[in-house]
Amino acid sequence: MSKNFYVTTPIYYVNGEPHVGSAYTTVACDVLARYKKTMGYDTYFLTGTDEHGQKIEETAKLKGITPQELVDNIAPKFKELCKSLNVENDDFIRTTEDRHIKAVQKILNKVNDNGDIYKGDYEGLYCVSCETFVPKNQAEDNKCPDCGKELRTVKEESYFFKMSKYQDRLLKYIEDNPNFIQPSYRKNEVISFIKQGLTDLSISRNTFEWGIPLEMDKNHVIYVWFDALTNYLTAVGYENNAEMFDKYWNNSEVVHIVGKDILRFHAIIWPIMLMAAGEKLPTTIFAHGWWTAEGEKMSKSKGNVVNPHDEIEKYGIDPFRYFLMREVNFGKDGDYSQEHIVDKINADLANDLGNLLNRTLGMIQKYFGGVIVEGKGEDKYDVQIKEMYFETLDKIEKEMESLQFGKSLQAIWAFISRMNKYIDETMPWKLDKEEGQKDRLAVVMYNLTDALYKVAVLVSPYMPESSAKIWEQLGIKEDISQAQVANIRGWGNVKYNTTVKKGEPIFPRIEKEEKEKEEKKVKVKSKKKKVPEILFDEFKKVEMKVAEILEAGKVEGADKLLQFKVSIGDEERVVVSGLAKYYDPKDLVGKKVLFVSNLKPVKLRGVLSEGMFLTTVEKKSIKLIEIDQIIPAGTNIA
Ligand code: MSP
Repeated sequence: MSKNFYVTTPIYYVNGEPHVGSAYTTVACDVLARYKKTMGYDTYFLTGTDEHGQKIEETAKLKGITPQELVDNIAPKFKELCKSLNVENDDFIRTTEDRHIKAVQKILNKVNDNGDIYKGDYEGLYCVSCETFVPKNQAEDNKCPDCGKELRTVKEESYFFKMSKYQDRLLKYIEDNPNFIQPSYRKNEVISFIKQGLTDLSISRNTFEWGIPLEMDKNHVIYVWFDALTNYLTAVGYENNAEMFDKYWNNSEVVHIVGKDILRFHAIIWPIMLMAAGEKLPTTIFAHGWWTAEGEKMSKSKGNVVNPHDEIEKYGIDPFRYFLMREVNFGKDGDYSQEHIVDKINADLANDLGNLLNRTLGMIQKYFGGVIVEGKGEDKYDVQIKEMYFETLDKIEKEMESLQFGKSLQAIWAFISRMNKYIDETMPWKLDKEEGQKDRLAVVMYNLTDALYKVAVLVSPYMPESSAKIWEQLGIKEDISQAQVANIRGWGNVKYNTTVKKGEPIFPRIEKEEKEKEEKKVKVKSKKKKVPEILFDEFKKVEMKVAEILEAGKVEGADKLLQFKVSIGDEERVVVSGLAKYYDPKDLVGKKVLFVSNLKPVKLRGVLSEGMFLTTVEKKSIKLIEIDQIIPAGTNIA
């Protein structure tokens, strides 16, 4: 009987475009699913989008479109990202789908039948950005303890879920199942949070409309986290496919990979929902860390959000996937730095793996006309590399048990380095010149190709395209996506008399020196452009305000210009700005930005522009400086 494995990403909010954070979890789940396939599992991999809630409703309003239009515009971008990331998800769920709406209503009714829902009033603080209720004692200066955004006070009728009733059961479950919350340091955080005492959870809202209606009271919509978490059941047939549900939920290893910020929802609310509905709990909830960009928190307003599409275009999909999985130990925070990715590509991919392949194929070409031939004998180096290989397999399995992708890759790379050393130790160029060493030379070449055959299988979950290319260059005819670790547990996979096909280097080096030179040139230039100092009084002459963009559109006959109507409090202004290359005007409506309001008006292409937006200016991109929505238009900046 095959073993089943079900892995999920969080479902992503569709109020913004995908970024490197969303790409990260999706790639990690894909790597895990592909790895489990190589281990003989029947896998199911789910990702999707979280489309309900107050945040979506408000974002849509700001853009002047309906929530449905908003989610229909953005969800496809997440689907496209899956394609660009070369992930093999089996399903993509959207919470606005009918199958999901039915599943959420089903689980809520079950919980209600169990006597765990009651009607009451919620009065307290709410963070719209995190879609979470924040207890008063956790809110300093009325700010959300997680995202730092301003909290809203809400007072409304609500249905409550008796979470507190399950506190002890959950604690016991966590204790009895040491792998349930990983990494272990996160488990401890969750335990101490639960021990502070769980309160009942408000699971319905009645002051906005964008959500799944509560069947027992149509004036309420279901709290978006109750709705979203249920997606993990919906997709495996909770409501419409009993056979599938039995296979991938009841009789499967179930792993939810999530970011550290949403661990509590997954490790507390979700298991209690399942307990109350009488369903099995997942096997593991793994919380990964967060990425910063070049040492700074990523944010739209700073304009430093790493766009996965740009990275794929620059470095190629496999190097990008490799870097994400290799740079940080899964669970820890990491920094996305251009210098690091280039270093990793050059050192690990171009040098270690790329050279091992190129040297091996070059030598087979030179010494045996491109054919892998049978030799004779075994010496101490051969024994050493084989021993190391078998140890490597054990290490990988051990590390992957706790989702340690980076450490698993480290083990593979230690073996790759050992194989490069093997070339230096066995000195094939010498064997070629010596009388009677042809058999020995053939053994060395065989061991190198067999090692590369196995390495390709081991890295295939991380770099599917490149591993297929490695097999192709080794002359292997089979499809690597079907490869099983069970078949590479012994030595001797490559068939004698296979003809290799040396091709272009799979991982070209990135010439950092060129990049550095360019950067230096830019630095030198910018040094020359030193701006003269001004007095504070001069600065004070500039009047700056928060402006809200009310309308945005193109300027007839001008490719670079956009025309805006903005509100600066009690006054509306028309502004023309050279932003056409950087923004789609409809994305700008509703944004609050920095604005110089006392600039002498000028006519641009026949339109009188009465002020100026402040922007960040980089070589290739100009970005508006956005202000938190909570600040009213017209607020003075000093
Ligand atoms: N919709 C909820 C999840 C519901 S799951 C039932 C949500 N969505 S989200 O779009 O805001 O976040 C999705 C994931 O992206 C989270 O796991 C979050 O941790 C992750 N990341 C967002 N920014 C990130 C980084 N800078 N780095 C790594 N991951 C980050 O929460």
